[in-house]
Parts: sequence; C-alpha cells; structure tokens
Amino acid sequence: MEQGLFVQNFDKMINRIKITVMIIMKKNRLYTVITGASRGLGKSLAHECAACNRNLILISLPGENINLLATRISVIYNIEVRYFETDLTNDRELNHLCDELSVKFNIDMLINNAGIGGVHDFTNASAAYIDNIILLNIKALVTLTQRLLPVLKKQEKAYILNIASMASFGPMPYKTVYPASKAFVYSFSRSLYAELKDTNVLVSVAHPGGMATNPHVSERINSYNRLIKSTILSPDSVARICIRNVLNGKSIIIPGIMGKLSWVIIKILPTQFLLDVFKKSLLKELKLIHAA
Ligand SMILES: NC(=O)c1ccc[n+]([C@@H]2O[C@H](COP(=O)([O-])OP(=O)(O)OC[C@H]3O[C@@H](n4cnc5c(N)ncnc54)[C@H](OP(=O)(O)O)[C@@H]3O)[C@@H](O)[C@H]2O)c1
Repeated sequence: MEQGLFVQNFDKMINRIKITVMIIMKKNRLYTVITGASRGLGKSLAHECAACNRNLILISLPGENINLLATRISVIYNIEVRYFETDLTNDRELNHLCDELSVKFNIDMLINNAGIGGVHDFTNASAAYIDNIILLNIKALVTLTQRLLPVLKKQEKAYILNIASMASFGPMPYKTVYPASKAFVYSFSRSLYAELKDTNVLVSVAHPGGMATNPHVSERINSYNRLIKSTILSPDSVARICIRNVLNGKSIIIPGIMGKLSWVIIKILPTQFLLDVFKKSLLKELKLIHAA
C-alpha cells in the first residue's frame, strides 16, 4: 500500500519536472521571423532556415495558405513553426504584429523579405500602386527592424537580413519607385550595420538578381537573351547562399558569380548608358504588358 503511494507520488513529481522543463524550453525557444514567407524567395528561406534547425515565425498576407506551409515545414524538419497573416502595408496590422512578436517570442533572426515591384509608367501609375511599394519595401522593413531590435539585442547572437536587389545599384526607367526603394534598403542596411557593429546584432543585406519566383517574373525571364538568362538563380539557391553567408558573418551578399559580375558591370558603366539600355528594354516590356 505504502509502496503504491510512493510510486504514485514519484510519477506525479516526474510529470511536474517534465512540465517545468517544457515550460523553460518553450520560454527559451528562439525563432527566425520571415516576411513574405508563403511563396517565392520567402518560402525558400523558410525551408533553408528550417534545415538549419531554426524555429520559424512565418508572415504572409491573409489567404495564402500559410497554415499549410507552416504545418508541412514543422513536420518535415521537426521544428516549431508559428505563422501570422498580416498585411504589412496596413499600419494598424503592422503595429499589432510588432506588439505580438516583441512581447511573446524570443527572436534571434529577422528576415525582411517581403517586397513588390513591377514595370509601370510613373505618370499614369495609381497612387495606391506607388504607396504599396513604399509601404512594403521601405516602411514595413524599417518598422519591423526598429520594433524587434530590443528583442534581438537580448540574445547572445542575432541577425537581421534585408532582401534588397541588384536594382539597388542603378536607377531604372519604367520601374522608378522599385529600384529607389531597394537603394533605400541598401543604404539603410549599411548604416545600421555600422551602428550595431559592436553589438550582438549583425545586419546583412542581400542583392539577388532575377529569380523565377512568380509567373510574371518567369515570363519576363523567358524573354531575355542567353547572357541575361545565365545570371538567373533559383530561389532555393539564393536562399541557401543568403543563410550560409549571414551565419558566416557576411554583411553584403551578392549571390552567384554572374551576380557579382553584373555588380561590377553596373559599377563600371556610365549611368547614362545604363539608363538608355534599361529604358529601351523596359519600355518594350511595358508595351507588351499593355498589349496583353
Ligand atoms: N523575383 C526576383 O526576380 C527578385 C529579384 C531581386 C530581388 N527580389 C526581392 O526578393 C524578395 C522576394 O521576392 P519574390 O519574387 O520571392 O516575391 P513575389 O513572388 O513577387 O511575391 C511578393 C512577396 O511580397 C509579399 N507581399 C506582397 N504584398 C504584401 C503585403 N501587403 N504584406 C505582406 N507581404 C506582402 C508576398 O508575401 P506572401 O505571398 O507570403 O503574402 C510575397 O512574398 C522581394 O523583396 C523582392 O523585391 C526579387
């Protein structure tokens, strides 16, 4: 009888210890936040981080089936995956997300991936279209970075990865706002890198060239000549290069040899020449869009 009682109490004690350990582990669990995670480069970054055994918080627009992706990744890699459906261009939703993330989670990596662009004739582009690019590519990225910085600073080592573009390095007629927004991301990331250099937070910026991430971009890529096509990398390769470089402490990432070559060419050639070349090819693209 006494022995049975002892066994019962012992089992209860073991269970309590197990629960306490689980609570402590949950409290200390570290997460990587990825915006624009439901598709394209963001989805590849999610798989890559999961393969590195990082728990994830995936952010996506509502209605993109992010719940299914979160479950799939969690099962494949045996990691914890949370998700939030948020329109990052909506100030109220963005602030609510920042409140939730900064209060409820330990975060040691923030990947600002969500970004939009496109070809447009600036004179006739709608104000909503222009606003969306600025709100997503610039405002959301800056807000998330500033609001999550206190959480990142609490960790032993933390990372911010901002996804810019090769377009950061040169103006492009008929894209106007997109390259300007990516030039902002480059400048912001480099300034913040220097500001935080002596802290635990590394700020990196990545400059991918073209990637076939969505039907529109894929169609555009197919119309390019062989030389330009040779600069195209898959989103999976870009994600692998980005995460490997960030974890190795690199603060500027230009994926692929052809990407690095393109960077050198953009730096060497006169801006007027590049403007003329881009104007010709992007005007052609704009005409094709209008004709479709
Ligand atoms: N594709 C390229 O050739 C290329 C080249 C250089 C740089 N980049 C950059 O790489 C990043 C990813 O591009 P991608 O081509 O993979 O993306 P994409 O297929 O064009 O999709 C747009 C991305 O932005 C997110 N997004 C759009 N509106 C949003 C909103 N209101 N709130 C929250 N998220 C929103 C989407 O997230 P959800 O679908 O998850 O909601 C999606 O991840 C971008 O910053 C882009 O500028 C792309």
